[in-house]
Amino acid sequence: MADKIKVAVSGACGKMGQAVIKAVRAEGDMELVAAVDPANTGKDIGEVVENKSCGVIIGDSLEKALRQNQIDAVVDFTNPDLVYKHTKLILENSSRPVIGTTGLKENELEELKQLSQQKGLGCLIAPNFALGAVLMMMFAQKAAKYFSNAEIIELHHNKKKDAPSGTAIKTAELMTLEREKFGQDNCAETETLKGSRGGVSESGIHIHSVRLPGFIAHQEVICGAPGQALTIRHDSFDRISFMPGVILSIRHVMANNDFVYGLDNIL
Ligand SMILES: NC(=O)c1ccc[n+]([C@@H]2O[C@H](COP(=O)([O-])OP(=O)(O)OC[C@H]3O[C@@H](n4cnc5c(N)ncnc54)[C@H](O)[C@@H]3O)[C@@H](O)[C@H]2O)c1
Repeated sequence: MADKIKVAVSGACGKMGQAVIKAVRAEGDMELVAAVDPANTGKDIGEVVENKSCGVIIGDSLEKALRQNQIDAVVDFTNPDLVYKHTKLILENSSRPVIGTTGLKENELEELKQLSQQKGLGCLIAPNFALGAVLMMMFAQKAAKYFSNAEIIELHHNKKKDAPSGTAIKTAELMTLEREKFGQDNCAETETLKGSRGGVSESGIHIHSVRLPGFIAHQEVICGAPGQALTIRHDSFDRISFMPGVILSIRHVMANNDFVYGLDNIL
């Protein structure tokens, strides 16, 4: 029988981290070997997530976990201030990153790509692991070929730290592959209230970020043309929607030594 994939989860006690712990433990070819989170350090992660101990004690440092365990892949859902440092640390310790935390900058992505190539280790970073969201981005890219005006509205829970979402940024990037400039026929605008028109991508796509309790992760891409509008919308109602993508990505980094940014590249 093939060895199980030894997985660690960083940000294990967070909303996403807890869902990942359950998902990994439910897979027959994976073994949870470490859980890292400064919240609940010293407790059994099984107690925190499922009220049932599983023998994996929560550590307070990813670096220590990487030194003390043999870890094939690390799933990270922490926060934008830590994600670059964590991804680098995982590669430097010869493990494979599966990164859901958003907020990585373009130059950081480039550096991480070079490091993963130097090390010959698979590395997958996905602004959105929900399959439906990935399809929404692909459809928006296709629509961009035919619509010269488009705006994005993304809606998330009010504990999300970064704005706009990584998904909105990635959507605008994909749309820009099809068209260099959007909204060029808009009239000159004046914002009576600063920020009313949202953030603007280099290609002129306006991105509006809504933060409200009750929401998880939602996005609408609205394409407009004379006499018509096309709205492409995706809703994640539960964090379980991200788990098939996370599991697929763990298997991908084990089987491939490439650097992947965006789940669309492996579907
Ligand atoms: N890619 C996707 O599909 C996707 C989906 C949902 C959320 N996200 C992103 O994932 C990230 C986490 O989201 P969340 O809702 O789970 O947040 P959360 O605040 O619920 O969880 C973050 C966890 O990280 C822990 N943490 C803080 N410092 C740490 C450290 N040094 N080492 C390890 N853990 C540490 C915190 O204690 C917390 O438990 C955010 O950036 C969010 O935007 C991505």
